[in-house]
This record gives sequence, structure tokens and C-alpha cells, in this order.
Amino acid sequence: MNCIESTDAMVGGDLVPESRSVSPAVGLIGDLGEAVGPDQVLTEPDLKAGYVRDWTGRWIGNAAAVVRPGSVEEVQRVVRICQEAGAPLVPQGGNTGLVGGSIPHRGEVLVSLRRLDRLGPVDHGTRSVIAGAGVTLGRLQAHAREEDLAYAVDLASRDSATVAGTIATNAGGAYVVSRGDTRRQVLGLEVVLADGSLVSSLETLPKVSTGPDVIQTMIGSEGTLGVITSARLRLSTPSESELMVVLVGMDTLTDGLRLMGPGLRAIEFFDRACLEAVIEHRGLARPIPGDFLFYVLVETTGNLALDESSSAVVDRSLWVYRESITETINGLGVPLKLDVAVPLDRIDGFAAVVRALDTSGEVFLYGHLAEGNFHVNVVGSPDPDRASEEILGLVVSMGGAIASEHGIGVAKTDRWRRTTDPGSIELARRVKEALDPNRILNPGVFWG
Ligand code: FAD
Ligand code: MLT
Ligand code: ZN
Repeated sequence: MNCIESTDAMVGGDLVPESRSVSPAVGLIGDLGEAVGPDQVLTEPDLKAGYVRDWTGRWIGNAAAVVRPGSVEEVQRVVRICQEAGAPLVPQGGNTGLVGGSIPHRGEVLVSLRRLDRLGPVDHGTRSVIAGAGVTLGRLQAHAREEDLAYAVDLASRDSATVAGTIATNAGGAYVVSRGDTRRQVLGLEVVLADGSLVSSLETLPKVSTGPDVIQTMIGSEGTLGVITSARLRLSTPSESELMVVLVGMDTLTDGLRLMGPGLRAIEFFDRACLEAVIEHRGLARPIPGDFLFYVLVETTGNLALDESSSAVVDRSLWVYRESITETINGLGVPLKLDVAVPLDRIDGFAAVVRALDTSGEVFLYGHLAEGNFHVNVVGSPDPDRASEEILGLVVSMGGAIASEHGIGVAKTDRWRRTTDPGSIELARRVKEALDPNRILNPGVFWG
């Protein structure tokens, strides 16, 4: 018999409008089983465990059930059932999100889209491909490579992060500076709305001018406006073979910006604390002689104007030092992870103030330099909420953004509401109201 861990939030509390009648949870589980097959409805705690805990271990929620639809029609049925029962749901892809947005915090139904993993043939005419919600970035990239093309977005989480998850968060990664963020790659979408209806723009031509493209609102909406079931994605030309990867040590990030020039594909940075931790965790050799405050990694097809005295090394395998940081920090403890951006003329000032803050924890700085992006991670702080408030406050005071690429999730909802232009918040509220009037879609995100 199915064991229902907790249904309080699902059948009561402020997640369900009071006027709606709610089916008993057992009826809901039975209905979901009929919609997708009983094997694809998980209710045992140990089977749900991997879906209700986030990648960092910071958020551990609970779900009425984990539902794994295998087709678009099944997604529609699941959403209709949840709508009729007044049962909130959380869409989930690879569960690599870092702001708690993919976790059911209050007993929602967790809808995993991983089984929607159909990957269409590459269309060389439009240079695009249709990918199911659950296709991983790694699989999509390999598929494009087989046809001598590339998918522009790349993250260290590529083997788990999914097409729909990256669209729902408008993921960034290392190649934003040369290829743009996820938004720039989306040519069309197919989405199940909160009432179970389906909207699609998958068959669009490479360029149309037929009125507002409302479906694009789904990009960056973090599962709060619809459930993305597939996407048509732009493919690009692959990297040239004469690509060079260089790691340079320096004491200011502003010096790093000078390495941006023709042929630049990626420019990343990390601080001394990151390098030391990665060397220790991965058992790697020190990549360059000397000791610096920052290390800048550049991938380019152009020539880098480095002066003779620079401490630099050229080797494609250098990416391992940058890509191992997230996993290394996670190994040290549950981190406070803040993903922010500040104007480029403030980057060194920001880094200096953050280092001087009394978080009583170990601070790690790394990120995507060209966007003024900082991943500020703090491990071991006795009061991470206070540290978060201080750092986000600093970002806002410097004219920066409280989220650069990971989204708002549940981690930053208060700040989002307090610091976003009131007109934009009101517009977002009206869109939410129109598309999800009963607030069943990922209710903890944005609106808390
Ligand atoms: P999930 O974590 O499952 O979900 C994320 C959000 O999307 C949630 O709000 C969820 O409700 C929503 N969602 C998921 N699927 C759907 C759907 N079908 N329809 C509607 N909403 C949906 N991020 C970056 O931007 N840049 C990086 O460089 C980067 N590097 C990372 C490296 C590591 C090691 C890790 C662990 C994470 C990294 N991330 C990075 C964060 C994460 O990988 C991205 O946010 C990614 O886009 C999440 O994809 P996912 O499939 O795992 O989504
Ligand atoms: C990265 O750039 O490494 C990621 O966004 C993940 C992280 O912030 O740790
Ligand atoms: Zn990042």
C-alpha cells in the first residue's frame, strides 16, 4: 500500500484557495496512478528521497507523491488532476538548481519531467533541433556534435541538468560572453498550462513577426507559469580547432577584463581559496607558479596579449580547476550559495568588501567574469541568513543584480519583491494571475 508522507500543505494551509474543494490525498494518488501508471507514482520515502533534496543539501522538502509522466498527454492529465484537486505541483528536471526552486517544500506533487527525453533529428536548414524537456545538456551537446554543430549553453552540471530546467532558469554558464544565455537559444517551446491545455510554437520558421511571442514568458519563469514539455533550440558552429585555453594569475579582476579581445569564447575567474580547495579535493598539481588573489581562465581563438612577466599556462585540461569548484565546496559542508552580478567597474570593490565581511565562515569567490557575475559561496557561517542579507544588500547598493543565472527560487523571494521595480512586480503578478489563478504551479517560488 502506498504510504503518504505528508499531505498537510497539499490539503490545507495557504497553498490551496479556501473556496476550493479538495480531493482526499488517497484519491489524488489513485488518480495520478491512473494517469501515468501506478509504477510512475512514487510515494515511499526512500524512493522520493532523491527528488525532495536539492543538490547542495540545503533544502530537504517532502512531496505528496513523485509523478513521472512519460508523454505530453500524461503531463496534461497530471496537471488537470492537480488543478481539479487544488493540489500544488513542482516541476523538476535534473534537480541541479541551486536556489531551492525544484524542491517541494510543502508537500506539493513533484512532477519529474526526466522521462520526456525524446531528441529529434538535427534540422540543418534552420540549424535547430527539437528536444524533450528531460534531455540532458550533455546528450544534446553530443547529438549536435555528431552533426558537426554545437549547443551553446554548457554547465558543469551537463550530465544531469535538463533542457527544460535550463530554460526555466534561463541558465548561463561559461559561454554567455560569446554565445548568449539560454534565452538566446530558444526558437520555440511546447508548454502545458495550469489548466492542462497545450500551447506550442515548435514549428516556427527561423524568423517571424506575427505579434507578441507570449510563450517566451516561460523562459526564466522557474516552473511558475507552465510546464515545459519540449523546445526547439538553436544550434551553432562548433569551436575552431585552434582554440586555446590559458590560465593567468593576477591580483585584480579588472586586470582580467583586459584579456577580453577578438576570438574570446569564455572568461572565468576563481580566487585563491577555490584553487587551494580544488587542488586538495581533486589531488591536482598546482597549475601555475606563484600565489595570486585571483586566477582567470580564458578560452579563445585569438591571440592573448600577455606581458612577459605574467604567470600563465596554456592547456585545454585547465578547465578541470574551474569546473571542480562547485563539487569541491559541497564536500566541505552545506554552502550558502549566492549568485549575483555587479557592474564591471565595481568588481574589485565588491570582492574586497565581501572578503572583509564578518561571516565567520570560509568565503569562496568565482564566476563568469564578463557578466560581472560572482558566485559567492560561504561555508561554515553560523548565520547564513544574515550573511546572505548583507551580501545581497551590498549587491543592490552597487547597482547589481541579486540573481545572475541561477534564478530566484525560494532563496531570494523576499529580496526579489523588495528590490525589483514595483511596475515589473505588478506585471509579473498579473501574468501569474492570468496563467495560474489558483496558484498551483510551484507556489513557493517568487510569491513565497
Ligand atoms: P531543476 O533543478 O530540476 O529545476 C530548476 C527550476 O526549473 C525549478 O524552478 C523547476 O521547477 C523548474 N523546471 C524544471 N523543469 C521544468 C519544466 N519542465 N517546466 C517548467 N519548469 C521546470 N547554472 C547556471 O546557470 N550556470 C552554471 O554555470 C551552472 N553550473 C552548475 C554546476 C553545477 C555542478 C551544478 C550542480 C549546478 C549548476 N548550475 C548552473 C545550476 C543548474 O544546473 C541550472 O540552474 C540548471 O538550469 C537546472 O536544470 P535542471 O534540469 O537541473 O532543473
Ligand atoms: C558555476 O558557474 O560553477 C555554477 O553556476 C555553479 C555554482 O555556482 O557553484
Ligand atoms: Zn555559474
